[in-house]
Amino acid sequence: MFTSIQIADGVYSVGCRDWNVRDFHGYSTYQGTTYNAFLILGEKNILIDTVKKPFTDEFLANISAIIPPEKIDIVISNHTEMDHTGALPHIMRKIGEDTPIYCSKMGEKNLKSHFSQNYQYKVVGSGDKLTVGNRTLSFLETKMLHWPDSMFTYLEEEQILFCSDAFGQHYCSSAVYDDELQEDIMPQAKKYYANILLPFSTKVQALLKDVAKMDLQIRMLCPDHGIFWRKDPGKIINAYDVWSKQAPNQKAVVLYDTMWESTTKMATAIVSGLESEKIQTILMNTRRCHRSDIITEVLDAGAIAVGSPTLNNNIFPVIADIMTYIKGLKPQNKLALAFGSYGWSGEAVKQLNEEFAAMKMETVDNGLRVQYVPEEKDLAACFDLGKKLGESLNQRIQEQE
Ligand code: FEO
Repeated sequence: MFTSIQIADGVYSVGCRDWNVRDFHGYSTYQGTTYNAFLILGEKNILIDTVKKPFTDEFLANISAIIPPEKIDIVISNHTEMDHTGALPHIMRKIGEDTPIYCSKMGEKNLKSHFSQNYQYKVVGSGDKLTVGNRTLSFLETKMLHWPDSMFTYLEEEQILFCSDAFGQHYCSSAVYDDELQEDIMPQAKKYYANILLPFSTKVQALLKDVAKMDLQIRMLCPDHGIFWRKDPGKIINAYDVWSKQAPNQKAVVLYDTMWESTTKMATAIVSGLESEKIQTILMNTRRCHRSDIITEVLDAGAIAVGSPTLNNNIFPVIADIMTYIKGLKPQNKLALAFGSYGWSGEAVKQLNEEFAAMKMETVDNGLRVQYVPEEKDLAACFDLGKKLGESLNQRIQEQE
């Protein structure tokens, strides 16, 4: 059980830890996750968000350790996705279905689609303030970060920003705050950004500017997943600034799959070519690396090379899977290169180039196909292509500095 924890004067974390989840709708969560929710006590008692449905009993026990749930006066729903609303219907039955639920306009629409039409929805928007007893809450809509309904809630008296999915990590441990960690949390935060927020990077940039303009004093950032940023909220805000800008780095990812190791040989030679240009390169076999780890590496790479054998006139299925995933996450500002071996038809390289075009990635070459098994001259051509990709990346970095 996740013991309820006081995180500020009259403010409690009442969420649940999910130690064992390893697949979060397709995202690999090697270290589990948490579903954070918050209880603010005062002249009126406020609940911010709930938890995933299977954790309802544990959640209720966490609340009950502080106050009888019936004493909750208002509910705030920062985000409709069911890892934060799954327990809502049960909670509403417990505390009274006429308890007001504050949410964004899209939050109301989405909550009605998921649950009951009959709750007492109270729509709030950016800049709205709500005085509840001796507490002052203000709201900031964060549409498409990462759902249309998403919003933040700011508790003025304690200077806490409850920031929903933003700044979160799928990470479960005994640590509650950033200053209690025994390990570096940033790889988990980066993975979370790459898999959840990357397609909305332009909006992240706009949000960071809005938050700066509002001059919000943020003593603590409390996301709905993972640890709370108490010691250094600026660390994760600055990281979001860097990740959302997507400036090219001197880093490349070479993704490939193979049937009889011919495409492996090509990939290895391309890595050497990239390294000859001092590009830090990561080689990833798509059947051995999870797609959510691959996109995490792609996030801060300036170039990707993708190698696929041709199977039944098509891109190899595992490569098609990762290309679909990458396309949906819309990484920007990447150079690209296609390669692969084939037996008799060899469509994969052409199809990969079409995928790159659809993703608005700039290809540095038409790519390279090799029939059956690469010879020395073919591997030399792969090296040269890797080098060419590296030179182009170095040039792009210079131009954008
Ligand atoms: Fe953690 Fe978008 O839900």
